[in-house]
Amino acid sequence: MKDVGKIRSSFPALKRKALNGKPVIYFDGPGASQMPNRVNRAYNDHVLYDKANAGGYFETSVNTTEEVGRARLALSMFMNCDEDEVVLGANATTSIFQFSRALSRNWTSEDEVVVTKLDHFANVSPWVEVAHDKNCKVTSIRFDLDTGKYNLEDFEKAITTKTKIVAVNYACNAIGTISPIKEITKIAHAKGAMVFVDAVHYAPHRLIDVKDLDCDFLVTSIYKYFGPHVSAVFAKKQHLQNFSPYKWNLHLILYQIVGKRVHLIFLQLQRFRVQSNTLLLCLIKVEQPEKIWKLHIIKSQNMKTNSANTF
Ligand SMILES: Cc1ncc(COP(=O)(O)O)c(C=O)c1O
Repeated sequence: MKDVGKIRSSFPALKRKALNGKPVIYFDGPGASQMPNRVNRAYNDHVLYDKANAGGYFETSVNTTEEVGRARLALSMFMNCDEDEVVLGANATTSIFQFSRALSRNWTSEDEVVVTKLDHFANVSPWVEVAHDKNCKVTSIRFDLDTGKYNLEDFEKAITTKTKIVAVNYACNAIGTISPIKEITKIAHAKGAMVFVDAVHYAPHRLIDVKDLDCDFLVTSIYKYFGPHVSAVFAKKQHLQNFSPYKWNLHLILYQIVGKRVHLIFLQLQRFRVQSNTLLLCLIKVEQPEKIWKLHIIKSQNMKTNSANTF
């Protein structure tokens, strides 16, 4: 067991007391993670000493470029892809919107879009809006209300040779269901469709391996795993080569991302292979969570083998 006190003390937010005078516990996964001192220090150091646009020849700009490079390297390890397949941007919702617009430039009314009912609005509305603008058909895949899971046959039926994109989440932030992305990707690729995975809720809980999943795009939001509110998108190189975005971030001002030691946080996550339960337990040392005041553990028998915690 790690030193819980030491780990807690690196998160200033955990010093706060609840109304009953007890130390707070943040169980609200969908409501973001807290930021540890070292990330905040890294951010401040950069803003105070090295703030500059990347890509220039003066010292602070060179430092900024290097820091962005390190952050991308760390994120490529985090998702298991190449560094030039990491696209940094604003929050996940904005990035998905930008990708949806860039990818759909040549879509016509003959094309189709598949979204799912368990997905966060962030990975539904951009695709539905694009489909609306291009007069494309949209199919929304339902899930089984008893198990909280998708039925792969529904994907088989919904995805056709006209489907351009299948937008699906990796883990649902409402009920914790983990989607069978690898299988869904196989079905989509067999019909020539691309897969855009929302891994925002999954990323803080389990390891991501985009090579194994073989998905085309996958987005995470760094504020869900101890960082600032910016996103990292994995995009397959072959797609980026034909990519035509409306907005280029050539001189992306990434003060938030480039903090000097931010990348270590990602590397540590990778190294310790942190999973949600382990992380929660080591931060709050809850041995019998059901005894905590007002905490109700809702568990469905059917869902127990397939869940990323959600509170
Ligand atoms: C599963 C999921 N997808 C997308 C988002 C949106 O992320 P962002 O706030 O970075 O736009 C969230 C945020 O809670 C989420 O939980």
